[in-house]
Amino acid sequence: MKVVAINGNLHKVANTYYAIKIIGSKLEEKGIDFELIHVGNKEVRGCMGCGTFRMMQNEKCTYSTDPINEWFQQMKDADGIIISSQVYYSGVAGTMKSFLDRVFYVSGSNGNFFRLKVGAAVVAVRRTGGSSTMDTLNHYLAYFEMMLATSSYWNIIHGTIPSEALQDAEGVQIMEVLGNNMAWLLKMREMTKNTLPAPAKVQKVVTSFIR
Ligand SMILES: Cc1cc2nc3c(=O)[nH]c(=O)nc-3n(C[C@H](O)[C@H](O)[C@H](O)COP(=O)(O)O)c2cc1C
Repeated sequence: MKVVAINGNLHKVANTYYAIKIIGSKLEEKGIDFELIHVGNKEVRGCMGCGTFRMMQNEKCTYSTDPINEWFQQMKDADGIIISSQVYYSGVAGTMKSFLDRVFYVSGSNGNFFRLKVGAAVVAVRRTGGSSTMDTLNHYLAYFEMMLATSSYWNIIHGTIPSEALQDAEGVQIMEVLGNNMAWLLKMREMTKNTLPAPAKVQKVVTSFIR
């Protein structure tokens, strides 16, 4: 089993990274492979909403000047996905937002490949806006029928200068608990895959409230 973690922070090794690494170490302790993809420092353009991949069904975003299609395949191959961001104006940092809009749109419109994978959202923040940022991240996981791993509080860690988050004892514990819970969910999923059929996928009803 494998978990892919998307680091949405501009800096490779900052508080977001330390939060993800804590979760990763708990997963690895339980024999689950852990892979980190650093997206936050790449040039990722925003979604144009062209929907070309919907017609083509080729699992590919039209804009391939960034590694989005490669990242998508890595996420598709994983059993669990962690998405993370630092906080910008109480929201998800821009590069990560562009990445999420595109990768989840491609996945959802080509067969919903992330469906029933185990997912978790993680946030690093200096002071405030952690909850609203985590809320936004959770919207991606919840829209696509992912199984949310949770912890003993919101999955938020506090820190400003890199590695300061390691002094946030409560935040560290939240990430440890999250890692353990995620591992347990993954194992449950694996152990029951031949005995407990997954709920059938439904044809999505789409209305604009009235039509
Ligand atoms: C453009 C910008 C906006 C920010 N907005 C917020 C904010 O709304 N709330 C906050 O607590 N910190 C804010 N910060 C600080 C970052 O979230 C902060 O760096 C945080 O510690 C993330 O940890 P990391 O970058 O070490 O992973 C902002 C930083 C920048 C550059």
